[in-house]
Amino acid sequence: MSKTTTLNRIGVLTSGGDAPGMNAAIRGVVRTASCLGIDCVGIKHGYAGLIRGDFINLDLAQIKGITGRGGTMLYTARSSEFNTPEGVKQAADTCNHMGIQGIVVIGGDGTFRGAMDLTQHGISVIGIPCTIDNDIGCTTYTIGFDTACNTAVDAVDRLNDTMQSHERCSVVEVMGRRAGHLALGVGIATGATIILVPEVEYDFEKDVVERIRVARLAGRNNFTVIVAEGAEPGLGVAEKISESTGIDTRFTALGHIQRGGSPHVRDRVVGTSMGFKAVTLLAAGRKSCVIAMRGDRFIDLDFREALALTKEFDYEMYKSFSALTFLDKNTLLKSFKST
Ligand code: F6P
Repeated sequence: MSKTTTLNRIGVLTSGGDAPGMNAAIRGVVRTASCLGIDCVGIKHGYAGLIRGDFINLDLAQIKGITGRGGTMLYTARSSEFNTPEGVKQAADTCNHMGIQGIVVIGGDGTFRGAMDLTQHGISVIGIPCTIDNDIGCTTYTIGFDTACNTAVDAVDRLNDTMQSHERCSVVEVMGRRAGHLALGVGIATGATIILVPEVEYDFEKDVVERIRVARLAGRNNFTVIVAEGAEPGLGVAEKISESTGIDTRFTALGHIQRGGSPHVRDRVVGTSMGFKAVTLLAAGRKSCVIAMRGDRFIDLDFREALALTKEFDYEMYKSFSALTFLDKNTLLKSFKST
C-alpha cells in the first residue's frame, strides 16, 4: 500500500500460543483505527480464519472492557494450511476480496514468518510480539511474559509454604518452549535453590544433587528446583533427586495456568501501546515490520531483519543467581567484574 493510498479497512488477528495482553493489543488496534476513521475487521482463529474468511466487524462496543481479560477474544490457532504457498495466496485473495489493505498480527516468531509471506502478495502487515516465552530475538520484551512470570511465582510461593512445612523438595516445571527466560525469572523471584534451563548444560550429580547437599548442610530444610520444560522433563528430575538424596520430593507441572489470567500492568500497557503504534504505522504507509522493544523504547524493523535475530539468554544473571544462592564469593565477584 503506497503512502498515497487511503487506508480504509484493516484486519487484526492473534496467532500461536495465546498470552495475557493479547486483548489489550486488540483493543489498542480497534480504538486507534476508530479514531482515524479506519474500518477494523477481527479475524478469528488466526491465519486459518484469514484463509476461510472467518471475520467479525470490530467496533468500540465489541472491545469494551477487554483490556484486563486474559486469552484472546479473536481465538487463536496454528495453521498448517497457511504454511503452504496456496494457503498464503488464498489468504491474500480473501483480503483483496474483503478490501482489507493491511493486517496487524499478534503472536510469536511463527506468526511473523507467515506475515512475511503475506506481504509478498501486496498485503501490508505489522507484527506485535506476544508470547509468554519472551523468546523473540528482535525484542527485549514480549507481551504476556510478565503476567506469566507472576502467575508462576504465585504458584511457587504457595508450593514453598507446604514444602517448608513438610521439609520436602519441590520440583516445578515451567513453560518457555525451548527457552529458559521464564524459568530464570521465576527462579530468582522465588529464591529457588536450583534453576535448570536448556541454555546451560549441567551435570546432575554435581549441579543438582551436590548443591542440594550443600544447601542442606547450610541449614535449609526444604528445596525448590525450577525446571524449564525445554531443559528436561521435570518429573524425571524429581525422581532422580528423590533417589539420590532420599529427600521426600514432589513434582508440579504448572502447564497452561501460565498462559491464563488477567494481564498485569506491563502487558496491558505494552499491548495497548503496540496496538496503537501498529495502526499508525499502517496509516503512514508502512508495508512490513515488527514492533519491538529495546529497553523501554519502541522500535520497528522489517520482518526479515527481525527473524534473523536470536534472543540471548542472560548468562550473567544466571551465574549471579547461582553465586548468591550458594554464597559463592569468587563466582559472584567474577560475574560482576565481567559486567
Ligand atoms: O509458546 C507458548 C507456549 O506456552 C510454550 O511455552 C509451550 O511450550 C507451548 O506454548 C504449549 O503449546 P500448546 O498450547 O499448543 O500446548
